[in-house]
Amino acid sequence: MTTARPSTISEAYAESVRRLTERRVPDASTEAGELLATAIPCRRLELPLLGREPMSRRQHASLRRLLRQRCRRKPLAYILGEWTFADVRLRLNRDVLIPRPETEELFEFVLKTLTEVSAPRHVADIGTGSGCLAVTLAKHLPGVRVTAVDISRKALRVAKKNAVQNGVAGKIRFVHGDLLAPLRASAFLNAVVANLPYVARKDFSTLAPELRYEPRRALAGGPDGLSLIRRLIPQAMEKLKPTGWLFLEVGHGQSRKVRAELRRAGFEDVAIKTDMAGIERFLAARKPKERV
Ligand SMILES: C[S@@+](CC[C@H](N)C(=O)[O-])C[C@H]1O[C@@H](n2cnc3c(N)ncnc32)[C@H](O)[C@@H]1O
Repeated sequence: MTTARPSTISEAYAESVRRLTERRVPDASTEAGELLATAIPCRRLELPLLGREPMSRRQHASLRRLLRQRCRRKPLAYILGEWTFADVRLRLNRDVLIPRPETEELFEFVLKTLTEVSAPRHVADIGTGSGCLAVTLAKHLPGVRVTAVDISRKALRVAKKNAVQNGVAGKIRFVHGDLLAPLRASAFLNAVVANLPYVARKDFSTLAPELRYEPRRALAGGPDGLSLIRRLIPQAMEKLKPTGWLFLEVGHGQSRKVRAELRRAGFEDVAIKTDMAGIERFLAARKPKERV
């Protein structure tokens, strides 16, 4: 901040909102609250109660440092170093994608489907990143074993820490490699869940500035965004047990193409589900029963 040091917490809040708004940071008032609560430190809900309290020199310096980063459009999650996904707290750094609210919806969809239908014993999370899906599924599906795969060793290190922090490390096996290739060559999975990179090459230049901080390998899905998903579908068909499920998250405008790929590969009951914004975001499909 170039202006004089705000004397109270509420003045610091107003100044922070102004700075973030000037830099066109979306949702400036919520983010100002998060940064101020980190600088003080206190819980965000406590801020209104502390409004008249004076800001110390140390708190002010800390807020200035945090604001500087956010004004350069570094995402809040990387500044804070942690994030909430569904009901778990995750540690994050720039080696992993910041879990999105849509993926929380994917988690809820997978959990509901798998709990209603059967008690899955073995689920694979392909492209685990921070481990958000692996950790929440391991936490909520009793008796399940999750295999979490990522091509990035650095991402796997973050995901492992998140599994330990949330008490589910014993239920998850972390595997380095390309999609389902590192898993044994037999039909042993009850479900495959994947939020793979799906940004098309031509769309990269139009992305929000915050996305420049995220690993390109977590976003780039080849010329039309579907290169990885297209490769995963036949692999899932091979490694799923009969009647096993494949769940996918896809980008805006991709769902119909993916549905066609799933049908072509022999999947049945292919369904598209919209997210909260009404975008066709998720697909579920089943491997057919074994014919006798
Ligand atoms: C869109 S991010 C999703 C991360 C996390 N599942 C989530 O939902 O937040 C995709 C992840 O897939 C990983 N990935 C990219 N290519 C891969 C491949 N060929 N095999 C396995 N993982 C891959 C990336 O490293 C990244 O962690």
